[in-house]
Amino acid sequence: MPKKTFAHILTIAAIAAFTLAAFGQNTPATLTIHPDQPVSAVSPTLYGLMTEEINYSYDGGLYAEMVRNRTFRGDWSGILYWYLVEGGNAKAKMEVDNSTGPSAALPKSLKIEIEQADTRNQAGVLNVGWWGMAVHANTDYKGSFYAKTASADVGPITVSLVNDNTGKAVATATVREIGTDWKQCTFALKTGAIEASAGNHLSITAGHAGTLWLQLVSLFPPTYRDRANGNRIDLMEKLAAMHPAFLRLPGGNYLEGDHINERFEWKKTIGPLVDRPTHRSPWNYQSSDGMGLLEFLEWCEDLHMQPVLAVYAGYSLAQEHVNPGADLEPYVQDALDELEYVTGGPETKWGAERVKDGHPAPFKLTYVEIGNEDMFDKSGSYEGRYAQFYKAIKAKYPELQLIATMPLKNMKPDAQDDHYYVRATQNFADASHYDKVDRNGPKIFVGEWATREGAPTPNMGAALGDAAWMTGLERNSDLIVMAAYAPLLVNVNPGGMQWETDLIGYNAMKSYGSPAYFAQVMFASYLGDHTVRSKLENGGAKLFYSATVNTAKKELYLKLVNASSDPQPLQIAMPGVHPAANAKLVRLSAHDTQETNSINDPNRLVPVETAVHDVSGNFSLTLPAYSIQVLQVDLK
Ligand code: AHR
Repeated sequence: MPKKTFAHILTIAAIAAFTLAAFGQNTPATLTIHPDQPVSAVSPTLYGLMTEEINYSYDGGLYAEMVRNRTFRGDWSGILYWYLVEGGNAKAKMEVDNSTGPSAALPKSLKIEIEQADTRNQAGVLNVGWWGMAVHANTDYKGSFYAKTASADVGPITVSLVNDNTGKAVATATVREIGTDWKQCTFALKTGAIEASAGNHLSITAGHAGTLWLQLVSLFPPTYRDRANGNRIDLMEKLAAMHPAFLRLPGGNYLEGDHINERFEWKKTIGPLVDRPTHRSPWNYQSSDGMGLLEFLEWCEDLHMQPVLAVYAGYSLAQEHVNPGADLEPYVQDALDELEYVTGGPETKWGAERVKDGHPAPFKLTYVEIGNEDMFDKSGSYEGRYAQFYKAIKAKYPELQLIATMPLKNMKPDAQDDHYYVRATQNFADASHYDKVDRNGPKIFVGEWATREGAPTPNMGAALGDAAWMTGLERNSDLIVMAAYAPLLVNVNPGGMQWETDLIGYNAMKSYGSPAYFAQVMFASYLGDHTVRSKLENGGAKLFYSATVNTAKKELYLKLVNASSDPQPLQIAMPGVHPAANAKLVRLSAHDTQETNSINDPNRLVPVETAVHDVSGNFSLTLPAYSIQVLQVDLK
């Protein structure tokens, strides 16, 4: 199928999609919308983000660090992602030295013993990055490492970004004055007029014999809002386009860990990187913890999101739990300390710690989640654990809303986190799931949901399932305060994915949004503050809609989803809408449910915007097969 061009799509839109004549392939449906008759409130925080360290989401993903395994973990084959460099007749060897490191958190290091080297025949090590290192023209890269030498100095160290294919350095720096005590050395690499590529590595070499120890080798490209230790610009821009109101952090399973000692221990993720020991994620790789608690919060700040903070609640995935009562108290205290770190003033112990870490202002926090998916705890300890956390947190922070991760029998939590991973057909059948749910129960947080079809990223069939589901979220947003698709991110390189169907894919060089990503962007970009009275007749099983109005902007947003393989003619009546009202249509459509975007075909399916001229009275609109659309109507 040829790649869709903008003109091609416009032609389709002009000829087929928006016409006064119904095509008749399906029974004409009629939809009546009363923009002036409010029904229920829509939560301003309905759409947000959920992510965790899975699929190389942070390391090798959003977190912009270019060096892989910067703290030198090994396996039976050697030190992962690090290789020896021996130019010409240079001779060297490398090994992990368990006896020396720059900090208590990083007590080991990489020892490089250079037996023979000279200026032309250098010896040292290289790092291959996260499936390569993306390097662009005329760009500044900021690097650092901790280092020391034996008494025999190895002389100046050469640090270069080297192109894998040519063997030529594309940027080089020299680091001098490495002493016999550990110290952090910084360097800057600047590229010239080179061709951008991901096929590069970082090389660290010396031209003298001697011994060099290295730890925490780091290299960053320019980051979003230029933050040190910051995030990839392309991915942050994609997230910003989703208009997220919140970020659920830090997980997911990543909060819990497989074992209690592998949980997200927030106190080990703050402060200088050299004081972070790193830890194993339940998705089977080591987390650098460069994305620590404060970095999560700064990410919220950058995208104007509020944090939805999940605190570890005494359950880890390998069926390890902490009994409620005295055993659980240290964990409750740890959560209270965490809340103080996030929200406390400089006069508090942990607030002062945050100030020391570089963020004087406290963060606004409304929601705290107690654990994650505790229905999997076969011991049945969650009721007791939740109650203990609830009592302690409410005593100190009565205004916080505390989310339970499963239905509770003995008490009503402020909100309950429901998760759904389903196929498109299930979402078509279940789009009205919350229509009849008791409004006197807890508020609902749909903390993880996705239509799982397509790998690594969802296809159009999944996007249709998602869109159908989101019409139900919006209709029931008086109850559903927040909802988040999961997982959000995936590194598409071989071995990068642990969980299929992730919203945004990337490699070292570039990223793309799936059709489901664009459905999210469309739904969140056009969201009113209340639903309005509406009625659909002869709609059929694969036609879904949501109608909301933004009071301040005086705009109606009508979302229409045709998940059928046939075009769907629709008669729309909007009593009271001005005959000359401005309107526009944003549409995402495909030829087949399996059509999708990919790293090499990122814009195959993208939303297309067209102006609409007369939406008054009774007008007809044919929704193409497999299409998602938003009709924005000016009510002024
Ligand atoms: O999103 C992937 C995983 O699914 C989450 O870590 C977990 O909470 C859920 O089971």
